[in-house]
Amino acid sequence: MSVQFNSSLTAAFRSHVCGALRAENVATNVKLSGWVQNWRDHGGVVFIDLRDRYGLTQVVFNPENAPEAHKLAHTLRGEFVIQVEGEVVNRPEGTVNVNMATGEIEVLVARIKILNKSETPPFAIDETSEVGENVRLQYRYLDLRRQPLQEAMIVRHRVTKLIRDYLDQHSFLEIETPVLTKSTPEGARDYLVPSRTNPGSFFALPQSPQLFKQLLMVAGFDRYFQIVKCFRDEDLRADRQPEFTQIDMELAFVEQDDIIALVEGMIALIFKELNGFDSSLPYPRISYQDALDKYGLDAPDIRFEMELIDLCDVFTGTAFKVFRSVLDKKGIIKGLNLKGGASLSRKEIDDLLEVVKIYGAKGLAWIKVNEDGWQSPIVKFFEESEVAALGQAMAAEAGDLLLFVADKPVITNESLGHLRLHLGEKMGLIDAEKLAFCWVIDFPMFAWDEQEKRHTAIHHPFTAPLDEDLDKLDTDPLAVKAKAYDLVLNGVEVGGGSIRIHDAGIQGKVFSLLKIEEDEAREKFGFLLDALSFGAPPHGGIAFGLDRLLMLLLKRQSIREVIAFPKTQKATCLLSGAPNTVSPRQLRELAIKKA
Ligand code: AMO
Ligand code: AMP
Repeated sequence: MSVQFNSSLTAAFRSHVCGALRAENVATNVKLSGWVQNWRDHGGVVFIDLRDRYGLTQVVFNPENAPEAHKLAHTLRGEFVIQVEGEVVNRPEGTVNVNMATGEIEVLVARIKILNKSETPPFAIDETSEVGENVRLQYRYLDLRRQPLQEAMIVRHRVTKLIRDYLDQHSFLEIETPVLTKSTPEGARDYLVPSRTNPGSFFALPQSPQLFKQLLMVAGFDRYFQIVKCFRDEDLRADRQPEFTQIDMELAFVEQDDIIALVEGMIALIFKELNGFDSSLPYPRISYQDALDKYGLDAPDIRFEMELIDLCDVFTGTAFKVFRSVLDKKGIIKGLNLKGGASLSRKEIDDLLEVVKIYGAKGLAWIKVNEDGWQSPIVKFFEESEVAALGQAMAAEAGDLLLFVADKPVITNESLGHLRLHLGEKMGLIDAEKLAFCWVIDFPMFAWDEQEKRHTAIHHPFTAPLDEDLDKLDTDPLAVKAKAYDLVLNGVEVGGGSIRIHDAGIQGKVFSLLKIEEDEAREKFGFLLDALSFGAPPHGGIAFGLDRLLMLLLKRQSIREVIAFPKTQKATCLLSGAPNTVSPRQLRELAIKKA
């Protein structure tokens, strides 16, 4: 993948870039500048692959042709920056390299200038082989010279350009919102910035531009977008960074289906242009409840089947102690049927227990369906009728491994949901080439936080309830569904949004359900509540995680592989050493430390 080179401005250092020359350039004189990739001496003739971001060109130093240049060539080492001038010639027969864009030609050097020397780099630039990630992060500018990150940066640029063009064509305006601002609740901790001019006060870096984009709707900019940095102080994983980029959008006078149709077009375009992938639109939609029922998770990976099976009915009258006590405490029993899993060893099955334990499950019951009967530590506790009903519910056949968790609904779903993903990977059930998009819709508005004894917002507190559920805000808040939607790709949430509340009264009611008292609501979001009272149009929006989209588009293991200067799992920058301590004077100026 390359970007067209615009050859204006290049005369002094180069007439061409290192990926450009072809057979039709033979017999012309050219000037190239770049980095020494590797150096070979064949019978007194020196060959160098000269590299820039456009590619490699083989340049040749022949002592008979240019003795001075040949002499200098012997002083060159990897990553020196040089400029060469010479004639493009055909490679001798038998030495053409069909795997290289410039592989038909080479440049016979007449003159060379060393533009800069280089220390020996801590890892070879031409290799994609294993280098420890810490070293790569410390010398990120060298890692960025290598092909995988070069490709990632080019694709990242092309994706954002496609997005800007697509949204521009759909009448969107790109408008910047503040970075030094107030807390926006998206469920993570804030990064705070002390204010020198207001001692004791702090800005929060935005977790998203949520409040400002809603204000822009009140201001009449009916289609806003921004490709914007967001900051969240949360525990990091392969798909989370403390600062990451959102493709953030908001629209006025639209309904959920309008937003979904518009952004599906954008996502399908990105994957078509950069991956050749033909999306069949619309993407399938699955309700939040179905996602939990079938996949155990609200971001289902639908690349493979093996759905969770509800077994509460099968065991409703069971005498098996473990299942009985779970059912009596309003827990649930669910199972997975791993086709062909009966061949797993005892040790392998024990290892699966470790997977579900991470999510709080206390056990993992199993049955091997063998040709000669069922083998299991628990079947002896079942009635014959239960065995028959179980076999039927799970469509058990010889060779299957049946796995069960009985626990609170949240734990059962989450642990089996993750076990399903684990088995999908382990057993090769997932086609790595597949891209499976789906929308998850009909989220509940609230969850109940047992510890804090209050409702919490599943999306964020500005999300509108379904019209038909408005009454239930007073009577049965947990039954209220939201006009919220997430886009999931291969089990990763790549985007999420909602239709917003545009009525100050309903917004107040939602705040009070969330136990955000009136004073607190005024203090935190007074400016939004005020704005809603000055003619706020119906509006809604969505934000995509650009880094996550790129990670999936490029099939990388982590979002660090698509970010130029990412942070570690501990939210540090190994390149610059941030975060670091600051001087007592700075702390005093910020009123953080007394004189
Ligand atoms: P949400 O919190 O779902 O919604 O964020 C939107 C998308 O941003 C990505 N994302 C992240 N990517 C990398 N690292 C992180 N720490 C991280 N956190 C989130 C995800 C996610 O789907 N204001 C709302 C959007 C709206 O309602 O319009 C919001 O921020 O891909
Ligand atoms: P126990 O009586 O604790 O020895 O458990 C008997 C069997 O049931 C073992 O195979 C356990 O792995 C399994 N088991 C125990 N607790 C659970 C649970 N909560 N869900 C599923 N299986 C369980």
